[in-house]
Amino acid sequence: MKIALLGFGNVGRGAYETLQLLPEIEVKCVLVRNVRPCGTSAVTADFSDILSDPEIELVADVMGGYEIARFYVLAALRAKKHVVSANKELLCKSFSELTSAAFENGVCLRYTACAGGGTPWLFNLERAARCGEIEALGGIMNGTTNFMLHAMEQSGIGFDEALKSAQSLGYVEAEPSADVDGRDAARKCAMSANLAFHTMLNEAEMNVEGIRRVRPCDIEFAKSRNCVLKLIARAHRANDAVNAYVEPRFVKASSQEAQVPGNYNLFTLEGKRLKRQSFFGQGAGMYPTGIAVAQDILDVARGSVKPQETVIAPQSVNNQSCAHRYYVRCGTQQPHEGLMELACERLVTAESYVYITKPVSVFAMHALAQTLRKADPRLFFAGMEEA
Ligand code: HSE
Repeated sequence: MKIALLGFGNVGRGAYETLQLLPEIEVKCVLVRNVRPCGTSAVTADFSDILSDPEIELVADVMGGYEIARFYVLAALRAKKHVVSANKELLCKSFSELTSAAFENGVCLRYTACAGGGTPWLFNLERAARCGEIEALGGIMNGTTNFMLHAMEQSGIGFDEALKSAQSLGYVEAEPSADVDGRDAARKCAMSANLAFHTMLNEAEMNVEGIRRVRPCDIEFAKSRNCVLKLIARAHRANDAVNAYVEPRFVKASSQEAQVPGNYNLFTLEGKRLKRQSFFGQGAGMYPTGIAVAQDILDVARGSVKPQETVIAPQSVNNQSCAHRYYVRCGTQQPHEGLMELACERLVTAESYVYITKPVSVFAMHALAQTLRKADPRLFFAGMEEA
């Protein structure tokens, strides 16, 4: 099969090198902004060269960004070319539109690399969802923040040093906020929930808290309770809505999540009959993600996936029906209104007040933290796994 790559960054090169080993795939053309040699393939800065080439049967979007990528991908689908995409922003925002366009044009749209990189999570999640099996999903969906929390736990370093270390290893997104404020994990969680529950969640409705305010004392507290601090994403069916959120959480030291080191990811689905099924691996990187793109291309080329109709019923996010205890660390000067009545334990140190709450809904806790932060911007909170 002759294909084209849109983009030749890290993931594009990882996919390209992998495809060079597969005689059944020829990368006929690569789209780049500034024309430069890309292996032995033709290069162009003009997308219409690819669109109008009848020999190119599949287009792989490895370029990132939203508007222009959406334009190219829709045009390719309407020109009856299969599409493989690694672009999670695109798939998350336009899932319904793109899956409809693919089906209407009788072509495949594959996107395994969008969440989990080298971990074949979305592919297997979609398979499990066919049996209507999935009730909940979640886990560690961002490698950068897992690397940072793990480094803080192992070496006692602070947030800034952990972030610098992750940046020096090339893990962090160009805009670090996407990682440290939890948006990257939220996007992967929304996309996973869409596949699992045949829906289209509005990512903006999710409660999302990252790790920006974590301090070594929080990690120490976790250790004192035989827990480990992780950034956890979770989505759960809740009658006619979906609970979906991202937040730091103290997980039990014996849990699978607690064992996830460095920049690894752990994705888990839970089914009534299937029980827990987890996928562990590298969530990002040139080769893990590039290989996932190449695998999707092979699946299409070998006919092992077919064009499919994706039935989508949009659902709202409602985090009022999921509740658990929280750890909340505040400064010493503030009145902590709203916290006292929720607390079942309070610890006072020279620098902070720590409250352990009774079970509180995710929605209520995230809203309360926003209110309290007007006076106490460094307030940190984390969910607590029940003992
Ligand atoms: N920055 C992301 C991560 C890359 O660390 O998981 C993959 O989406």
